[in-house]
Amino acid sequence: MAKIKLTVNGVKHACDVEDRTLLANLLRDELALTGTHIGCDTTQCGCCTVHMNGRAVKSCTVLAAQAHGADIVTIEGLAQNGSLHPVQQAFTDNHALQCGFCTPGMIMAAAGLLKDNPNPTEEEIYEGLEGNICRCTGYINIVKAVKQAAGQTPDGH
Ligand code: FES
Ligand code: FES
Repeated sequence: MAKIKLTVNGVKHACDVEDRTLLANLLRDELALTGTHIGCDTTQCGCCTVHMNGRAVKSCTVLAAQAHGADIVTIEGLAQNGSLHPVQQAFTDNHALQCGFCTPGMIMAAAGLLKDNPNPTEEEIYEGLEGNICRCTGYINIVKAVKQAAGQTPDGH
């Protein structure tokens, strides 16, 4: 067991974690932040994506112990002061989800992509999201949403 301290969505936590505990499980099982989904836990689907120290990471590939001292943002922490993050708003406007299972990870990955590259080309959007799988295959509207969030298209189009 290890004792770790981390900040999640602006709240400080101290947790006892087993050496093998994944960050995804810590978030879901200990902190009840179930918006972070687990689809594969083998680094393939991306639905567990969160931000760790400002970078998008797949939380099933990070040990909870590795997050000691880290600043984590999950889908629950993306909206600020009651306003959706621009990527969340754009997913809503463009109906960029079907079953919604991939959506939290897709939004966190897209937000990370736009942080690194605020004006991506369509190719760069596809490349930036290639680690995130949508089993409903709604990629066209997802890419439209990322373009809207990047200010490349008017809201809702
Ligand atoms: S659950 Fe982490 S990549 Fe699939
Ligand atoms: S909306 Fe169903 S998996 Fe993406």
